[in-house]
Amino acid sequence: MSYELNDFIADCRDAIDIGGKSYDLERIRQCAEKIAKNSTFVEAYFGQEAEIGTHTLHQDQDRDFMILTHIKDTGFDSPPHDHGASWAVYCQIEKYVDMCEYDRQDDGTIEGQAELVQTNSYRLNPGQAGFFDAFEIHSISVPNKARFMRITGTDLSRLETSCFNMDAQTVSIITPNDSGDTAGGR
Ligand SMILES: [Fe+2]
Repeated sequence: MSYELNDFIADCRDAIDIGGKSYDLERIRQCAEKIAKNSTFVEAYFGQEAEIGTHTLHQDQDRDFMILTHIKDTGFDSPPHDHGASWAVYCQIEKYVDMCEYDRQDDGTIEGQAELVQTNSYRLNPGQAGFFDAFEIHSISVPNKARFMRITGTDLSRLETSCFNMDAQTVSIITPNDSGDTAGGR
C-alpha cells in the first residue's frame, strides 16, 4: 500500500503534541522523504499542471502545523532569515535548493545590528528533506522551476521573524502582515 497524504498527516500529528510545543523534526523529515517517493502524490500536487505559487495542502486544527507546496517559476536567493518561533521542514521535489546555516555572533544588545557567521551549507536534491528549528538562521537559493514542500509549525504569516543583511551587519524585524514577510516560500 502506498504512503498517501492522509498517512503523512497522521504521522506528522503523531510527531507533534497537541498545542505544538514538542515535536520530532527528524521523524517529520523522514516522513516527508517517504511521501516524496509517491509519484502519484508528486504528480497531483507538484506536476506540470500545478499552478505557480504557494498552496496549502493541510492546516492542522489542534497541532497547528501546515503542509505547503511551493511551485516556483523564477529562482531566487533569500537573505539569511529565521522563522521566529516556528520550525520548518523542507522537502525538495523538482530541481534543487542550496541551504546555508548561520550563527549569530553578537549579543543582540544593539538594536538593528547583527553579526552572522556561516556555519554550514548543503544541497537538497529531489526526494531529500531537511529542517530548521525555531529561530535557526538560514538562507536558501533555488533555480528557476524549483518545486518543494514545506511543513511549518504554524502559519508563519502570523509570526514576527528576523531578516539579516550579512554585509551591512544589520537585522530587520518583520512583523505579521508586513509585505516583507519572510514566510512566503523561503
Ligand atoms: Fe526559511
